[in-house]
Amino acid sequence: MAFDEIRSVAEKLAAEIAVGPIVPSVTPQEIRGHLAARYDFSKPLDLDEVGADVEAMLRTWQVHVTHPRYFGLFNPSVTPASIVADTLVAMYNPQLATWRTSPAANEIERHTLAWLASKFGLPAGASASFTSGGAEANLSAVIVALTRAFPSYGEHGLKHLPAPTIYVTTESHHSFNKIAHMTGLGRRAIRTIATERNLTMDLRDLARQVAEDRRRGFAPFMVVGTAGTTAAGAIDPLPELARFCRSENLWLHVDAAWGGAAILSPRLRGHLAGIEAADSITCDAHKWFSVPMGAGMFFCRHAAAVGEAFHAETSYMPGKTAGPAVDPYTASVQWSRRFIGLKLFLALAHHGESGYVEMIEHQARMGDLLRESLASAGWQIVNTTPLPLVCFTRDGLDTTKFLAALYRQQIAWMSEVRLGAGAPVLRACITSFRTTASDIEDVVGAMSRIIQG
Ligand SMILES: Cc1ncc(COP(=O)(O)O)c(C=O)c1O
Repeated sequence: MAFDEIRSVAEKLAAEIAVGPIVPSVTPQEIRGHLAARYDFSKPLDLDEVGADVEAMLRTWQVHVTHPRYFGLFNPSVTPASIVADTLVAMYNPQLATWRTSPAANEIERHTLAWLASKFGLPAGASASFTSGGAEANLSAVIVALTRAFPSYGEHGLKHLPAPTIYVTTESHHSFNKIAHMTGLGRRAIRTIATERNLTMDLRDLARQVAEDRRRGFAPFMVVGTAGTTAAGAIDPLPELARFCRSENLWLHVDAAWGGAAILSPRLRGHLAGIEAADSITCDAHKWFSVPMGAGMFFCRHAAAVGEAFHAETSYMPGKTAGPAVDPYTASVQWSRRFIGLKLFLALAHHGESGYVEMIEHQARMGDLLRESLASAGWQIVNTTPLPLVCFTRDGLDTTKFLAALYRQQIAWMSEVRLGAGAPVLRACITSFRTTASDIEDVVGAMSRIIQG
């Protein structure tokens, strides 16, 4: 197959997006009117024409997350290799429920995950699977942790259990609230631990709340440490959390959905020290590994507990695969599943580890440059992280008005966020490996001009 054709189309598109607008201005009525006028599905249409129309819709009616000046919410620019991979997956349509149906795809995923698990310092027998994203990986962690801590959970649910509780911070990802709802734990099973000034978990408050819960008859079972929080890129004190969890017999889940990629970087990986002691880890390939959406990963050192949590037996599925192979539908949330892992495998194989280190460290350098340029232009930096995510403000700033001007002038996309109980501030993350020093200078210069009116 002509991979170079797909690559050259992808590279041409990336170049066009880089010089085009970033933020659309459109109403739902406009798009609905367009669709209703053209697509009642009553007769077949020419594929080229429909394809061209869909591409035009995507071009004009989306925030261009692959734009080098999209400084947004962990949605990356995507490598051409990963685009080739998703095309191949669509064509062969491998079914990853079982090993026997798709041996090649299963082993490619296993090989890729084992490599990354060893980078995290997990033992050779650890379980790992691809997920739809970070929320599913976090859900997997809660289900497996519950199954291990409360052997009756699988058969009897939460009935007769002494109110299991999970510990997060205000800065943890809010998928845990939905997970508590979905698993039947209930949203009130989530305890919110206070944070230090740098937005990392306050260990004294953790110890206090766990002790208090035990006294009141609750059953603490899991602590979530985040390695790269969504709002501010904060990294919880993982070694101390690991020690605390070990001494209290609690499951430590490290949510490294975005920050996990830093494990590849000699410059950054020290900041993730302690992750090797986690019971489970979430890491998303569709964030800082720069592959298209739909690629999360769940790692767990307790393979037997994963098997216990997701076991399934039925005669309509092909018989259990013999030997060391695992059928993914018996070791993960999903049943029928697409070949998620190829995009990470192909991108890693194509760029090599050194290529990835260069991409990740380039983005970290661009984050440092953004931080320095903003500070020199009079902005106050309000977060502390080695990762390329900057939260900032200035006296009297109206973030909503400022962002509206930024979008209107197509300067960049960034967002606003509240850290703790503070006023809204601006948040800019270097999510594209294509962002250059001149993008940063241009954006900071244009922001100063907006401020000056
Ligand atoms: C720290 C963290 N965990 C989990 C998630 C959820 O990941 P996903 O959106 O892939 O489900 C996110 C999303 O940004 C995140 O930042």
